[in-house]
Amino acid sequence: MDKAAIDRAKEHFGKLLEDQMKRMERVKAMPDWIDYSKIKPIKIGIIAGDGIGPFIAKESRRVLEFLLKDEVKNGKVVIHDIEGLTIENRAACNKAIPNDVLAEIKKFHVSLKGPTTTPRKGDPWPNIESCNVALRKELDLFANVRPVRVPKQGIDWIFFRENTEDLYALGPYGIEVDADIAIDFRLISAPGSDRICRLGFEHAKKNGRTKVTCITKANVIKTTDGRFLENFYRIAKEYPGIQVDDWYIDIMTAKLIDEKRRRDFQVMVLPNLYGDILTDEAAEFQGGVGTAGSANIGKQYAMFEAIHGSAPRMVKEGRAQYADPCSMIRAEAMLLSHIGFVEKGKNLEMALDICGQYEKKMTITGRSDGATGAAFTDYIMEWLKNPKLKETWEVYLKA
Ligand code: IPM
Ligand code: MG
Repeated sequence: MDKAAIDRAKEHFGKLLEDQMKRMERVKAMPDWIDYSKIKPIKIGIIAGDGIGPFIAKESRRVLEFLLKDEVKNGKVVIHDIEGLTIENRAACNKAIPNDVLAEIKKFHVSLKGPTTTPRKGDPWPNIESCNVALRKELDLFANVRPVRVPKQGIDWIFFRENTEDLYALGPYGIEVDADIAIDFRLISAPGSDRICRLGFEHAKKNGRTKVTCITKANVIKTTDGRFLENFYRIAKEYPGIQVDDWYIDIMTAKLIDEKRRRDFQVMVLPNLYGDILTDEAAEFQGGVGTAGSANIGKQYAMFEAIHGSAPRMVKEGRAQYADPCSMIRAEAMLLSHIGFVEKGKNLEMALDICGQYEKKMTITGRSDGATGAAFTDYIMEWLKNPKLKETWEVYLKA
């Protein structure tokens, strides 16, 4: 037995625990939620990302500027680009987020982010941490909120995925113990579970939802999932009017495709990795990950992003102009609601629903047989200007 390898691993583990205990202190000392109604100007940063990112970011920015025309004019909102979060720059700095870029991001209250490449072992890039994951940790964006709606099928789900813990917290800090054994660490904390569960219940309460479901694998992953579930039921007691249940992640992936059961789910709360997987599956009902938006919310900052990757192959094959901007534009709708422009956010969602699921005057295929991202964005903006927007959307709901 390689005693030295064990000692090295123990020391490494001890260091990780020290860092995480310090993080717990920071989480517990976090100031309360920022109040956007009192802030002027609200600073919105646009992070283009890489791959197809700059292409879809350009379209998203057009929509944002159109919807916030008056607010920009009267100084309530400013919109700026944040440069430098590209795989080339991150690789050159050998950092998930270069220091100057992080400092810049922190100058904005909220950001809208295009996809960024996440290298993995064997890629031509250094194996740096995903910058999504790093940003979520740096800005303490503990909630990843992902709605999926297919009104025609009665699907109206919203996922509250914990966003800073689980296998992601220590994802880059596993141990290659020796030639045979590799270990990663999974971390779930009580404050971390409490705040995501509470946000799920608060959402249910404020939006007239009657049920919240927790998803774990607590029968097998007893310590960490056990703690998440225990905290879920403890927080549930504060919301006596709301029904609760819990499911294991494996059967949950099946129940989402069970036509008889899937309408029963409303608000779902779950740890990070299960949330990553289940929300991709869920988005498929709505037309795929290209159509889903995602909000990364913390008490001080928030970041809104497309839930898909940077599709470098589309760029290499010269097809980037055919990339679908809808996921990023849907994220933008969430951004608008989050900073207080609920009506504008709703209108944008309606326009997206009409263009993508109802009228479908054009479709995006990612290739030259479909619409370009720019043409589709024009189509969305036409609907935003159309006085029959709401009326038409209501017809679609009943269709
Ligand atoms: C997502 C993505 C990211 C994640 C990747 C890009 C690191 O899949 O936002 O769901 O796993 O969280
Ligand atoms: Mg994912």
